[in-house]
Amino acid sequence: MKLTISVIKADVGSIGGHLRPSVKLKTTVENYLREHGKKLLIDSFISTTGDDIALLMSHERGVNDNKIHELAWDAFMAGTKVAKEQGLYGAGQDLLKDAFSGNVRGMGPASCEMEFEERPNEAFLFFTADKTEPGAYNLPLYLAFVDPMHCAGLLLSPKMAKGFTFTIMDVDYTEGDRLIELNTPENIYDIACLLRDNQRFVVESIRSRANDNISVVVSAEHLRKVGDTYKGKDDPVALVRTQGNFPSAGEVLSPYRITHYVAGTMRGSHIGPLMPAKQNSTISFFDGPPIVSCAAFSVHEGRFTEPVDTFDHPFWDWVRNNAAQKMAEIRNQGFSGPAMLPYSELEYGGVGEKMNQLDKQFIVRKDSAVNGKKNKAA
Ligand code: F6R
Ligand code: MG
Ligand code: MG
Repeated sequence: MKLTISVIKADVGSIGGHLRPSVKLKTTVENYLREHGKKLLIDSFISTTGDDIALLMSHERGVNDNKIHELAWDAFMAGTKVAKEQGLYGAGQDLLKDAFSGNVRGMGPASCEMEFEERPNEAFLFFTADKTEPGAYNLPLYLAFVDPMHCAGLLLSPKMAKGFTFTIMDVDYTEGDRLIELNTPENIYDIACLLRDNQRFVVESIRSRANDNISVVVSAEHLRKVGDTYKGKDDPVALVRTQGNFPSAGEVLSPYRITHYVAGTMRGSHIGPLMPAKQNSTISFFDGPPIVSCAAFSVHEGRFTEPVDTFDHPFWDWVRNNAAQKMAEIRNQGFSGPAMLPYSELEYGGVGEKMNQLDKQFIVRKDSAVNGKKNKAA
C-alpha cells in the first residue's frame, strides 16, 4: 500500500518556562487527534521533547494534505486552550497565525512528511529535537549515509554501494524553497561544503540511488522565513526509513555518539553539544543542552508497533555524560567567542541594540596611522 507518514510538531506551552508541556496539555492534544482523526488517520503517536509536542501520523492522503494539517493545527489549538487555562509559559507560542490557511508550513509548527510504498517489514526512526535548529541533523545524516566509519553497509551491502541523493535547502532564501540535489559518492565534498554551514544549508531529504526510494525527510524550515523578524530556533523533527537499501537503525544512530556542537540552548543564542535523550525528556541546565530523542517503529498497513526508545540504553548514559562535560566546557567561556552565536543568529535583539548605541560612541584616534600614513580624521 502507498502510505504517508506525517510529523507535525509545535511548542504551545510549558511548565516552569520552556521546559516541558503539562500532562494535561499532552493528553488533550492526544485525545483531540484520536477523536477528530478517526476518519483521516490510520494510526498516531504523540511524544514530547523538551517544550515541544510532536504528532506522528500515518494515513493514505499524501504529503501536504490540507485535512491532515488542519487536524494537527486544531489539535494544537485545543492544547493552547489548556495551556492558557493552566497558565503555562508560552501558551500557543508556535501558532504564529490567527487562522489556519491550508498548510502548517510557514505558520510556526515544524513538519516533515514522506509518501512511499510500504515494505513488508517497514522500519523507521522518528527523531525529535529541542533547543536547536534543523541543521543539527546535517552532520549525523552525512556520516550515516556517506561515511563507512559509521555506515558499514556502504562497504558490506552491494545495495547501498550505488549511494544516495541528498536534497539540500538554502533556508536563507525567503522567496520559496531553494534546493540543490547532489549524489553520493561522487559529490561528497560538495555536500560537505554546504552542510558545514548548519544555519544556512539543511538536508531536506535523502533518497536511495538503487531504487529512488525515500529514506529521510527533515523539517528543513527556518522560522526567519515567517515575516521579517527572527522568531527563534526551529526545534526540528525528522523521519528515517532504515534497513534494506537504507542504512540500518544502528548506522543511523552511530553519529549521535559524537554529541557535536550545535546552535541553540539558552535563548536560542549559544552553542551546545547535541545530547541524545530518552523520550519525553525535559530541558534543564542553561535551557539545554540541545537534545535529540528517537523512537524506532515497525509499521504494517499503516499501524505502528509500540515505540522502542533508542537512546534508552546503558551505552547512551556514557554518551550523555560526555555531552554534559562538553556542555560544561563551552559554558566555561560564557559569552566569549564561539560560545555565543554571531549577530545574525541571536534570538533576542539586546546585543544588536547595544551595538547600535555603542557604535555612536566610537571615535577614530586622530594621530593613528593607516598603511604608514595619517588617517583621514587627522
Ligand atoms: C530557547 C528557549 C529559552 C528561552 C528563555 C527565555 O529556545 O526557549 O531558552 O529563550 O527561557 O524565555 P523568554 O524570553 O520567553 O522569557
Ligand atoms: Mg520553545
Ligand atoms: Mg522547543
